Formats: sequence, structure tokens, C-alpha cells
Amino acid sequence: MSGVLGLDTPTSSGGGLQVSRANVVAVANQKGGVGKTTTAVNLSAYLALGLRVLLIDLDPQANATSSLGLERDSGAPSTYEVLIGQVPLSEATISSGRPRLDVAPASRALAGAQVELVDLPDREQRLRAAVGAMRDRYDVMLVDCPPSLGILTLNALVAADLVLAPVQCEYLALEGVGQLMETLELVRATLNPRLELLGMVMTMYDPRTRLSSQVVDEVRRHFPRRTFETVIPRSVRLSEAPSHGKPVLEYEPTSRGAGAYADLAQELLQRGLLR
Ligand SMILES: Nc1ncnc2c1ncn2[C@@H]1O[C@H](COP(=O)(O)OP(=O)(O)OP(=O)(O)O)[C@@H](O)[C@H]1O
Ligand SMILES: [Mg+2]
Repeated sequence: MSGVLGLDTPTSSGGGLQVSRANVVAVANQKGGVGKTTTAVNLSAYLALGLRVLLIDLDPQANATSSLGLERDSGAPSTYEVLIGQVPLSEATISSGRPRLDVAPASRALAGAQVELVDLPDREQRLRAAVGAMRDRYDVMLVDCPPSLGILTLNALVAADLVLAPVQCEYLALEGVGQLMETLELVRATLNPRLELLGMVMTMYDPRTRLSSQVVDEVRRHFPRRTFETVIPRSVRLSEAPSHGKPVLEYEPTSRGAGAYADLAQELLQRGLLR
């Protein structure tokens, strides 16, 4: 398959790019409700038009799982069983029902992982160990993180090669970003020196307010090379799609929100997602 994203599929036979090991991308920001799940789900859907994608849901809220119409707490193994070492990631992975898009669903039990992992060895390295065996099967793995910098997000940052941080266009947006940057530095200095910030993506942009464009300008001024060109607008379609169990690409592909996530997928590839 070629050209859906304007690029050759790296796994296609007969030349073109060759990707042997998938990059792991953590979609992270300790702030709640900034668009992490919306970004993880919709990017996964667009990237899966041409790439083999695994979406790993690491949030006990399991919003990424349900946003794709998949049942949470189905009784099948989830990322919880993976983190506590009961099953390998391959056994918790299911098809999303869409070509090339697989999901490792979350379950409510994940909420207890914080406490249970304390007594287990290498508690921050559990996801990293789990994704290792899957890197040859996918072109990219996206991890949807919960809104905290606890052990679950830490597992994602230790497993990740790249971080994608959604930042909501709102007052004091930069304050939360500072804390995230400190955490990234700390992880880089200790557990994962290869961790890189792929970029920040501004979300819920409202062109009618001056605040939105001021926030985008301010974040760009502070992180000129680390802010995506693509800005995700506030879009009712994006907020409705999860309740239909669909990414916006299926729910309303001609909406502005859909176009923005298609652009973001394209920009991600240009920024070196597939190095
Ligand atoms: N661009 C957008 N336009 C309109 N609504 C949006 C947009 N992005 C996200 N939302 C809505 O805002 C809410 C929060 O988004 P989302 O769940 O993606 O954030 P989150 O960072 O994953 O939250 P949490 O921290 O709780 O995991 C959801 O109801 C979502 O549908
Ligand atoms: Mg979320």
C-alpha cells in the first residue's frame, strides 16, 4: 500500500523505506483533559492507513479502548496483566477491527497497579520489557498515558523513544509543560537516555478567542523547534466520535478536526517518527 499518507509503507516489499523496529511514542501530559486520548486514538487511526500501529492504553479510565468501540473490562488480559507480568504484551493485544490497527486495552484493574508494582522488581521498566518483543511486528506503538506522572506514565516514558505532548490552548498552559519537561529530563538522566521530545501539539484551539492564539504564540516562542505546525481546533465532531466508538476518520472524515489529525499524522512522519 502506498500513498495514503503520501509515503510508501515502510514494510512494503520491493524497496522503499525499511523499518525494522517500531518506535514507541508516549502521548503524555500530567494535566487532565488536554487531548491525550483524542490525539492517541485519532493519530493511530490515520497512521494505520499506511503503517502497522499498536495503540497501548495505559490509563485505568480506558478511554482509548472505548473510543475505538472496544469493550473495557471484558475479562481478557489488559495492560494491567502485562505490567504485573502475568502475560506478554502479545497476549493482551487484540485487533481493533480495522486493518493494521491493534490495541492493547486497559482495564480498571490498572488503577491498582500503582500499589502492586511497588513490590515488584524493575517496576518502572515493565512496559519497556513488554514492548521489546513487539517492535518487529509494528511500525509504531503509541501509548496513551493517564493524567499523572505516576508509575504508569513513568513506565511509558521508560519504554518510549519519543514523547508527544498535547497542550491545551488555555491560560497557564506553559506551567504544566514545565513540569513535564523536568520529568523528561529526569527520565533521560536516569532510566532512558534515548528519550526525545517529538513535539508539543496545541489542542482545542478556538480561532474566535485571542487567548488561543496568544497561547500558541507563547508556546512556540519557548519551544520553537518543539511545537508542531499543525494545531488541533476545538471541534464538536472530535468530542462526539468517542461515544460512537469511532475515530473521527470514520465518524466525520471531512470535518476540520479530522483534517487536523490527518495533517498531524503527516507532520509526525516528516519529523522522523520512522527513523
Ligand atoms: N480538539 C477538540 N475539540 C473538542 N473537544 C475535544 C478536543 N480534544 C479533546 N476534546 C474533548 O475534551 C475531553 C478531554 O479530551 P481527552 O480525553 O482526549 O483528554 P485527555 O488528556 O486524554 O484526558 P485525561 O487526562 O482524562 O486522560 C474529551 O471529552 C474530548 O472529547
Ligand atoms: Mg485520556
